[in-house]
Amino acid sequence: MFGTTVKEPALTREELLTWLREEDPARLSQLWQWADRVRQEFVGGEVHLRGLIEISNHCVRLCAYCGLRAPNTELVRYRMSGDEILACARQAAALGYGTVVLQAGEDPGLTRDFVREIVRRIKETTGLAITLSLGERDEEELWAWRQAGADRYLLRFETSQAELYQRYHPPKPGSTVDRLYLLKRLREMGYEVGSGVMIGLPGQTYAGLANDLWLFRELDLDMIGVGPFIVHPRTPLADPAFARILPDGEQVPASELMTYKVIALSRILCPRANIPSTTALATLNRKNGRELGLVRGANVVMPNLTPPQYRIRYEIYPNKACLRETPDECHACLQMRVESLGRVVGRGPGTSPNYRYRMAKD
Ligand code: 5AD
Ligand code: FES
Repeated sequence: MFGTTVKEPALTREELLTWLREEDPARLSQLWQWADRVRQEFVGGEVHLRGLIEISNHCVRLCAYCGLRAPNTELVRYRMSGDEILACARQAAALGYGTVVLQAGEDPGLTRDFVREIVRRIKETTGLAITLSLGERDEEELWAWRQAGADRYLLRFETSQAELYQRYHPPKPGSTVDRLYLLKRLREMGYEVGSGVMIGLPGQTYAGLANDLWLFRELDLDMIGVGPFIVHPRTPLADPAFARILPDGEQVPASELMTYKVIALSRILCPRANIPSTTALATLNRKNGRELGLVRGANVVMPNLTPPQYRIRYEIYPNKACLRETPDECHACLQMRVESLGRVVGRGPGTSPNYRYRMAKD
């Protein structure tokens, strides 16, 4: 059943589906071990820390699952100043991180020039690798930021089920953007490219999720972020009718177990990718969700550096882990968790081995 060598891990689509439906603990334990072996072989024992800075919670979009969606008038909006962002980046450098992730809703207030300037200043003062996660932006903006020194871009495609994607992502008036096309363009611009999906979106089927995993491999992603869907009460998906749109046995559960399966299968399919053990997963299991992600294929964690007064307003979903902790607390907590596994905190920028591999090939 398992490949004879971990050098060329391969799974057929049928095997993917079988694993996604697998419930037997003994078999699942084999899957975890397989993923952990592949992780050790291809990306090693280091766990890279990425400092996450949630720079704005403004958003013009209407994504049906997300608490930042424009119509959520209960959310108090903020946008950090350039100086505030830079102060967080300095803190990341002081804590020894190799990179910061600047994340926001789709916010036109974060103009091309503002982001370009902040990228330039962070590079100049800290030398950190810079990851942007600012939604669907014009190619011209993405290129300007790349030229200013941005290294990586994260844009989840969320689901490969086209009808589901369309239902949950009303387009911006006057423009339809194909995220898969944008991912391709980002790659051509020389970014390290990350994408991923939510697990258990209402309407997500097993075949759909298997297809998502297949697409991770076809896209040759450098980073893969996955996490469980968590209902936000002030979004359309809070309507319980959504939970029942598929017949019994077809709906993928938004569970902790399913998240581990997807992390493990992502590792086996995309052995050189950087894969975080995400906050959404830690939200379902605060005690040791992050650690279990790390021993089932993941090799990255993302401590939150957002100042506390903003952090509580970056409410993509409720009860997020680490909502009330300070950056120093998250740092100490994650370092302790990584070391408790006998793993080490990575040094340097933590460039994706997949990116280095494809650069060497091209
Ligand atoms: N539950 C879980 N994850 C969510 N995201 C957005 N809303 C939710 C939610 N309700 C994820 C999306 C997005 C990332 C930043 O957060 O996948 O790309
Ligand atoms: Fe934030 Fe543990 S990572 S408190």
